Amino acid sequence: MDDAFTSDTHQDIGRVLVSSTAIARRVVELAQQVGDDYAHADGRLTVVPVMTGSLLFAADFVRALPQRRLRIQLTTVSSYGGKNTASRGSTLAGALPKHLEGHHVLILDDILDSGGTLRLLRSEFESRGAASVRACVLLRKKIPSAMSTPCEYCGFDIDDEFVVGYGLDYDDLYRNLPFVGTLKPEARA
Ligand code: IMP
Ligand code: MG
Repeated sequence: MDDAFTSDTHQDIGRVLVSSTAIARRVVELAQQVGDDYAHADGRLTVVPVMTGSLLFAADFVRALPQRRLRIQLTTVSSYGGKNTASRGSTLAGALPKHLEGHHVLILDDILDSGGTLRLLRSEFESRGAASVRACVLLRKKIPSAMSTPCEYCGFDIDDEFVVGYGLDYDDLYRNLPFVGTLKPEARA
């Protein structure tokens, strides 16, 4: 199917890696799979979107899961800052979700890279008495650190490139693009 949004949509984008059409289709598939897998947890499912990168993913994902009663509790983790494009290690920025005892926690993140974010959150939630903790990422880089990090649900495996769009940023910009793409080198100056 043709996609209305191409790399021409924004002058700073080099290549579209995942189109908005492909994202929309895959997000619905992921949500349906999660809905089936958590049928036993109706009313005891807590979805934890990792801000800010998973903002768009989470909004689309939970709307594709209307058959389940679930809670949404945001958390914020910082790993990249400003114009850095290499992970600096993950730190919590703000309060963690509360009252997780007996709840099945599903972490939603935009992209799995070094794995620091998921490892940090998983251990925090497990130590807070969650009944189970799983992770769902839209993107995963095809690098050893990402592929070896436990992650139960993954939208797309992509090559090891710095990407923006659909929530992912460079220096807090480009989150509003409806697709995932690479930045032109001159836009990363
Ligand atoms: P990890 O903790 O290294 O796995 O990285 C996860 C976080 O780093 C993601 O939630 C993103 O916010 C950020 N990140 C990793 N790779 C990229 C990228 O290619 N573009 C933009 N942000 C990224
Ligand atoms: Mg993030």
